[in-house]
Amino acid sequence: MVSPSVVPYIFLLLFVGCSARPLYPLPGRRNDRNKQPLQTFRAYNIAHRGSNGEIPEETAAAYMRAIEEGTDFIETDILASKDGALICFHDVTLDDTTDITNHKEFANRKRTYEVQGVNTTGFFLVDFTLEELKLLRVKQRYPFRDQQYNGEFSIITFDEFISIALDAHRVVGIYPEIKNPVFINQQVKWPGDKRFEDKFVETLKKYGYRGSYMSKQWLKQPAFIQSFAPTSLIYISNQTDLPKIFLIDDVNMPTQDTNQSYWEITSDSYLDFIKEYVVGIGPWKDNIIPVSSNYLQTPSDLVARAHAHNLQVHPYTFRNENKFLHFNFSEDPYNEYDYWINKIGVDGLFTDFTGSLHHYQEWTNPFASGEKEATRLLHKIELMLSKFKYFN
Ligand SMILES: *[C@@H]1O[C@H](CO)[C@@H](O)[C@H](O)[C@H]1NC(C)=O
Ligand SMILES: *[C@@H]1O[C@H](CO)[C@@H](O)[C@H](O)[C@H]1NC(C)=O
Ligand SMILES: *[C@@H]1O[C@H](CO)[C@@H](O)[C@H](O)[C@H]1NC(C)=O
Ligand SMILES: *[C@@H]1O[C@H](CO)[C@@H](O)[C@H](O)[C@H]1NC(C)=O
Repeated sequence: MVSPSVVPYIFLLLFVGCSARPLYPLPGRRNDRNKQPLQTFRAYNIAHRGSNGEIPEETAAAYMRAIEEGTDFIETDILASKDGALICFHDVTLDDTTDITNHKEFANRKRTYEVQGVNTTGFFLVDFTLEELKLLRVKQRYPFRDQQYNGEFSIITFDEFISIALDAHRVVGIYPEIKNPVFINQQVKWPGDKRFEDKFVETLKKYGYRGSYMSKQWLKQPAFIQSFAPTSLIYISNQTDLPKIFLIDDVNMPTQDTNQSYWEITSDSYLDFIKEYVVGIGPWKDNIIPVSSNYLQTPSDLVARAHAHNLQVHPYTFRNENKFLHFNFSEDPYNEYDYWINKIGVDGLFTDFTGSLHHYQEWTNPFASGEKEATRLLHKIELMLSKFKYFN
């Protein structure tokens, strides 16, 4: 028989236990010094450009949505304005994701530059000051995604992005990319001969980001630094011990700074070399498992070889829409997550739909091992309570 005095507590526990949501600390225990920590027992949910499947990419709203949906890390691409401000933006040109063409005052800013060996024409972010960039509004990249937020949100700076992560009610990591460093260093100059990479690391340090992977400092403010340019990652290696991820492009794309081929940078000898500087690789997922006629082919051994070198693997990009899902997954993004997490064994996933990945993981793998004990106890209490109800 359950003593009546414990019944209110049981109701409280039952309420928490029945809910499909994770067990948050009780409200009184939550404050800024005791935030819910980063989960580290399952593959990382990396919100690619924020929750950009729903809200225009790299905006404050897209990042806040991703945090609300349960992301572990918010991901961003860092470029620089003409006056040297670090900006969250993916493309070197503003054309595809802003309303630049509506701004007649900027009509004469169209340029052609050679970017990674390709002559590219458009409105280049590096030709605009931060003040000018703030006049623009961001729009959804893909026509088949929700257009209702087009024109609502502005471009944000690296500083603003960091504030979003630090202001979150739980620990949310950041995952910024040193984007197009060769081009940015050609186009943008900083006082004192500073390089883009120097400004990038200075910004992280200014907000207290430091510490190696899983160190106490890192767990307080987790960050991964990513780049397709190995030279940039090596250059910053004596400025910060934050963990770095080496991104790997399409098999046909040489690295932008060292002109090495995909086969060179995925060889065992290269993995041996780069592991001194990075904790993992971020390959395009279709390179890990080649695709033909929208069917997966035989998986390569890249994940196994990276793991053998003690390197994590965070592939990109997971997207819910049918046009991005290979037929093997029966048009179901959960099947795709299941395959990559449980069969291929990746350590993190860049997703356009943080909410879907979070639901999938909460459903299949909600608790770290310690929490399992707590759950068992709750089940026991639920059982006791069901008997109590019966006697009522
Ligand atoms: C880009 O255009 C310039 C000027 O027309 C030309 O000299 C250069 O060879 C072009 N570069 C490429 C990669 O096509
Ligand atoms: C880091 O190494 C670079 C060369 O790779 C050198 O120019 C720079 O002075 C070094 N910085 C520090 C802080 O040691
Ligand atoms: C990069 O490497 C490829 C293949 O080795 C070569 O054809 C090309 O000329 C190189 N490009 C540069 C800019 O060095
Ligand atoms: C994907 O489906 C195709 C066609 O049924 C099959 O040949 C292939 O083996 C499947 N790939 C994987 C990795 O399951």
